[in-house]
Amino acid sequence: MGSKEYFDDVAKQWDRVRETFYSQTVREKSLVVADVQPGRVAADIGAGTGFITEGLLQKGLKVIAVDQSEAMLAEMKRKLAHFDGIEYRVGQAESLPVPGETMDYVFANMYLHHVESPPEAIREMTRILKPGGKLVLTDLDEHTFEFLKVEHRDRWMGFKREDVQRWFVKAGLYHVGTDDANASCCVQSATVSIFVAFGEKVLADRVSQGVLEPGRDDDSEGKSSG
Ligand SMILES: C[S@@+](CC[C@H](N)C(=O)[O-])C[C@H]1O[C@@H](n2cnc3c(N)ncnc32)[C@H](O)[C@@H]1O
Repeated sequence: MGSKEYFDDVAKQWDRVRETFYSQTVREKSLVVADVQPGRVAADIGAGTGFITEGLLQKGLKVIAVDQSEAMLAEMKRKLAHFDGIEYRVGQAESLPVPGETMDYVFANMYLHHVESPPEAIREMTRILKPGGKLVLTDLDEHTFEFLKVEHRDRWMGFKREDVQRWFVKAGLYHVGTDDANASCCVQSATVSIFVAFGEKVLADRVSQGVLEPGRDDDSEGKSSG
């Protein structure tokens, strides 16, 4: 069974299962790091049943929720039927069904460790950001729990934060960094810490004027507190 079939299969139980894996602290941290503003538009990539989407809607944003699994999106649609302002789109990491430079924010929680090519997925999420838009990812720190690959179809055993930062910089993002999400993912005997990674797509004129180089803030480069 591949990743899509796995998530199609668990869709109806996902919210119950997810609550045992990680708490709302992860979502709160993402929204704080992005400094989300009402009225803006965000994409939730690998949105699943709407964990991040729901938080964004509660803050008054419009959301485009993208996932490979129709069944996960159908669960979200049923659960969040009382909200306006969501568009549901079936799509894949390599070619997101969202036009370029249209999103104020792009979020992805627990998605990166499922995709075939994390650097490519980050490039594609960066493509859909408006200049000035922010990419905020939450995912697992590097770990050694092989069973997650078998039982939960994880492709990657978490990530080194410096690798994720490098991929953000390569994708052309600025003000790049990582931090602790102040939360862990607990699955059976495994407990893995969660990081938040962030970066901003700056206005092209700041780059062409030589004010910024990729990944650099005025005084920091890919600074990690983790
Ligand atoms: C672990 S779940 C997380 C769901 C949600 N973000 C949450 O926090 O509850 C990962 C989600 O990413 C989706 N996904 C995995 N690989 C994908 C890909 N290559 N393209 C699009 N979606 C993908 C899965 O279908 C699944 O819904």
